[in-house]
Amino acid sequence: MRHFLTLADFSKEEILEILNIARTLKDAVKSKKYSNVLANQTLGMIFEKNSTRTRVSFETGIYQLGGQGIFLSSNDTQLGRGEPIKDTARVLSSMVDLIMMRTHGHERLEEFAKYSKVPVINGLSDDFHPMQLLADYLTMQECGKDKNPIVAYIGDGNNMAHSWLMLASKLGFELRVASPKDYAVSQKIFQSAQEFAKISGAKITLSDNPKEAVINADVVTTDTWASMGQEAEKETRKKAFENYCVDSALMRLAKEDAIFLHCLPAYRGQEVSEEVLESHQSKIWQEAENRLHAQKGVMVWLHQNR
Ligand code: CP
Ligand code: NVA
Repeated sequence: MRHFLTLADFSKEEILEILNIARTLKDAVKSKKYSNVLANQTLGMIFEKNSTRTRVSFETGIYQLGGQGIFLSSNDTQLGRGEPIKDTARVLSSMVDLIMMRTHGHERLEEFAKYSKVPVINGLSDDFHPMQLLADYLTMQECGKDKNPIVAYIGDGNNMAHSWLMLASKLGFELRVASPKDYAVSQKIFQSAQEFAKISGAKITLSDNPKEAVINADVVTTDTWASMGQEAEKETRKKAFENYCVDSALMRLAKEDAIFLHCLPAYRGQEVSEEVLESHQSKIWQEAENRLHAQKGVMVWLHQNR
């Protein structure tokens, strides 16, 4: 049995296999041909943080595969009142077939997975957001940006930046991350990406220079400056990141046909300008829809590999 906590646990071949399944399922959705691969299966969806896309894509996804989802918010479950993770994991996994968890510290997910009898999927932790990256790469494939692309990530060294490090280092493409010095990616995660890069041939560079990072890029991406849980730091972060807005001037340094990606929700006028977000280069709506297809690919793959 496999869990999906980070892309680090998956080989390049496995990641591409999941995306192949996702593309097949996406074509089927267009013709409203839902499969019954997960008939009679239940997905438990634990949310310790807010969500729009992750919740709706997982719930719709399991439904389209013939199963059903249960939304478990920490406000309503005993988890929110301090019932230990290891107890919750054993109870829930004796009843449902798959679990998705969105939480704070990544170690909470690891603890849950350790005690779970069914596969656990990371729906975002403070350190990683792997489901988003599968949707992002699916979008890159659809836009023809998956042949030796140069990807520039501008902004906070957060869960999204870490997940880009994992994706690039597993698949072997060039990734340039530009963040203010005090908000750089975790050195530990960067080191593990460098180890994977030795095998895949990925080229990964870190800097604090957004302009240098986007020169000739095929994909430009960013994320909020203050993630969930960092609300109190919003104003300090606004100042630290003021030169890190992806605006039209910055986009012009990338390739003419470069695409812009953002996991959403976006804060217009902060990490991205309204103009870039609404431009023809922006593929954010396609990217958001691809959460549904990518995660269906993950659920089917985990089911097939049990
Ligand atoms: N991108 C993303 O995970 O969105 P939600 O927070 O709405 O789930
Ligand atoms: N980095 C953001 C991503 C939201 C989908 C957060 O963790 O809040």
